[in-house]
Amino acid sequence: MKLESPMSSCVFRPMPPLYVILFFSVSLLQCTTTSVGALGSETDRFALLKFKESISVDPHGILSSWNDSTNNPFCSWPGIACGSQDQRVTSLDLEGYKLQGTISTHLGNLSSLSFINLQSNSFSGEIPQQVGHLFGLQHFDLSDNILEGNIPVNLSYCSQLRILSLRSNRLSGMIPYELGSLVKLEYLSLGTNNLTGGIPASLGNISSLGQFSLAYNNLVGTVPHELGRLKSLTFFAIGPNNLFGTIPLSLYNMSFMNTFSITDNQFN
Ligand SMILES: *[C@@H]1O[C@H](CO)[C@@H](O)[C@H](O)[C@H]1NC(C)=O
Ligand SMILES: *[C@@H]1O[C@H](CO)[C@@H](O)[C@H](O)[C@H]1NC(C)=O
Ligand SMILES: *[C@@H]1O[C@H](CO)[C@@H](O)[C@H](O)[C@H]1NC(C)=O
Ligand SMILES: *[C@@H]1O[C@H](CO)[C@@H](O)[C@H](O)[C@H]1NC(C)=O
Ligand SMILES: *[C@@H]1O[C@H](CO)[C@@H](O)[C@H](O)[C@H]1NC(C)=O
Ligand SMILES: *[C@@H]1O[C@H](CO)[C@@H](O)[C@H](O)[C@H]1NC(C)=O
Repeated sequence: MKLESPMSSCVFRPMPPLYVILFFSVSLLQCTTTSVGALGSETDRFALLKFKESISVDPHGILSSWNDSTNNPFCSWPGIACGSQDQRVTSLDLEGYKLQGTISTHLGNLSSLSFINLQSNSFSGEIPQQVGHLFGLQHFDLSDNILEGNIPVNLSYCSQLRILSLRSNRLSGMIPYELGSLVKLEYLSLGTNNLTGGIPASLGNISSLGQFSLAYNNLVGTVPHELGRLKSLTFFAIGPNNLFGTIPLSLYNMSFMNTFSITDNQFN
């Protein structure tokens, strides 16, 4: 991407004295806006090239046009969408390209991202904690990869999240208690991983939650009665796991529930 020099639009023309001060302050404002926007998109271009660097296999060559050539703005690269005003990356969608590699920590520098879909690839390694910098992220789908390690606690800073799917990976460790602060979540799928520990009671705070799956993990303990507060649930799947005890009665009482799966646990 060829960048305009931040100051190039600041041409000072002679004006009648009365207007000089006003004009000067307006043009200063414009310069500041331009340079901030340009710096942001420069950061984005660098972060995208770093993201590409951590991908070792790209069988469809989808990232071949992600390069430094002139007249090749990153907003037109495959998988990228930008905001029309500031040319910052708002969407990263690389579903199903069989990409192999790791997810670069530089992802956290794409600070205007609201949509990330890396579903159905072969990303390995850990989910970078730096995703916690993406305060505008609404949709985060890493399902069907081979990611391992823990669910980053830092995801709880992504307070705009509505869709979070980490389904079908090799994630281990406990479900962070802090995820309960994602009160805008409508869809939470952590199924088919190797998660251990209990179901955090804090998840009962996510009142907008409609679809909830923790199926196919190694979770233990009882089902917190706080989940009975999730009145919008339509889909609830918590088996197979190693959960025991009784199912909170309130969970049998959800008006919109259409799928309720608790199979292969040790409930009584
Ligand atoms: C960079 O991407 C552009 C746009 O797709 C393409 O025309 C060009 O061949 C690429 N350059 C290199 C060195 O791969
Ligand atoms: C981007 O992210 C990396 C790794 O998280 C960091 O080292 C770097 O300083 C960040 N900032 C910019 C402007 O690239
Ligand atoms: C976790 O997210 C917070 C909030 O964005 C940030 O301050 C912190 O640096 C992040 N941690 C890492 C390791 O990136
Ligand atoms: C799941 O985690 C347990 C305990 O940490 C470990 O023994 C087991 O090998 C893991 N299973 C898989 C499929 O990764
Ligand atoms: C979330 O839920 C837990 C347990 O139910 C509770 O102790 C906590 O105060 C709640 N947090 C918020 C922010 O509502
Ligand atoms: C079930 O829902 C009804 C109507 O909202 C309510 O009166 C009742 O107390 C609920 N029962 C349980 C066990 O939550």
